Amino acid sequence: MNKIIEKLEEQQNLESDDLKWLLENNTEELRQELAQRARQVSTKTYSNDVYTRGLIEFTNYCKNDCYYCGIRRSNQEAHRYRLTETEILACCKIGYELGFRTFVLQGGEDPEFTDDQMVDMIQKIRKEYPDCAITLSIGEKSKETYQAFFKAGANRYLLRHETANEEHYRKLHPKELSLANRKRCLKDLKEIGFQVGTGFMVGSPHQTVENIIEDLAFIKALDPEMIGIGPFIPHQQTPYKDVKPGTLEETLLLISILRLMLPKALIPATTALGTINPQGREFGILAGANVVMPNLSPVAVRKDYSLYDNKICTGDEAAECRVCLSGRMKSIGYEIVNNRGDYPNKTE
Ligand code: SAM
Ligand code: FES
Repeated sequence: MNKIIEKLEEQQNLESDDLKWLLENNTEELRQELAQRARQVSTKTYSNDVYTRGLIEFTNYCKNDCYYCGIRRSNQEAHRYRLTETEILACCKIGYELGFRTFVLQGGEDPEFTDDQMVDMIQKIRKEYPDCAITLSIGEKSKETYQAFFKAGANRYLLRHETANEEHYRKLHPKELSLANRKRCLKDLKEIGFQVGTGFMVGSPHQTVENIIEDLAFIKALDPEMIGIGPFIPHQQTPYKDVKPGTLEETLLLISILRLMLPKALIPATTALGTINPQGREFGILAGANVVMPNLSPVAVRKDYSLYDNKICTGDEAAECRVCLSGRMKSIGYEIVNNRGDYPNKTE
């Protein structure tokens, strides 16, 4: 076995020079070896189970202006929508009947959904579906607000750090956003007791190998329960419309490295990965991921939640997506399971 991979598996970490070597020698052979080790490690904790999360993209209004994102506030051409509470609850009902036991409420940072409204909605979902996990992905808030969401019954929170390097962060976001606040949010979420997810886009504009090494070190130190990485894909109505997308190969290499660094983490094979390659999600699972996140949003609004170009699954009903993903996982020897899919030993 490659000595560096051996070391990575043993120490669940690597010095920067070794990580740099892996990132700069990303051959098919190396990826296969890493993926095989990563799969073995994942199977130890999760067997051949793949956890599912029902993703509800409930608003594409956003007060932020991240340069890479299709729903940034400056995109005048975006067709904006907000689901009503009744519509969101209807998505949960459909999802529950299909077997989902985790709902992910994701959206732009939309001030129309006040903290009180969110608390109210979380309480309703919690009451109606006591056996389900509620995951939020709605951006940066104060510690008090996060605390209120947790108390209302939310269990998990996804907030990618996007990049752990200050200079790189400035190239991706306008001045009003700061890496320091992003990190503060992640720290608060952890302290409150959320299962926390962070991550970054692979091949994001101006990203260097050194940036990725910093990202890996940041993630290792944070020790999150969930890690979301997917390729950057340009959106035609953003300043970075002409930047090349991140590659399948680099994303798969990083999924395997992260699996070996954080053996128990919940790692999704993302929709972005499925967008750059028709079998991207299958390859993601085979590289060590163990989660998929099919869409539960009403088909009428799917196309409008357009973070990047050519996003897949915008025309399929939730039930079709579930059947499709089930088949895709079966075809590679994995099984979609109907449970909350918590981090080991964490049920709150
Ligand atoms: N507003 C919330 C937040 O900022 O965490 C959740 C929604 S945000 C659109 C979800 C994630 O989409 C971001 O963390 C970012 O990494 C990803 N994303 C945005 N634009 C993207 C692009 N062009 N390609 C790939 N991923 C993208
Ligand atoms: Fe949506 Fe396959 S997951 S169509």
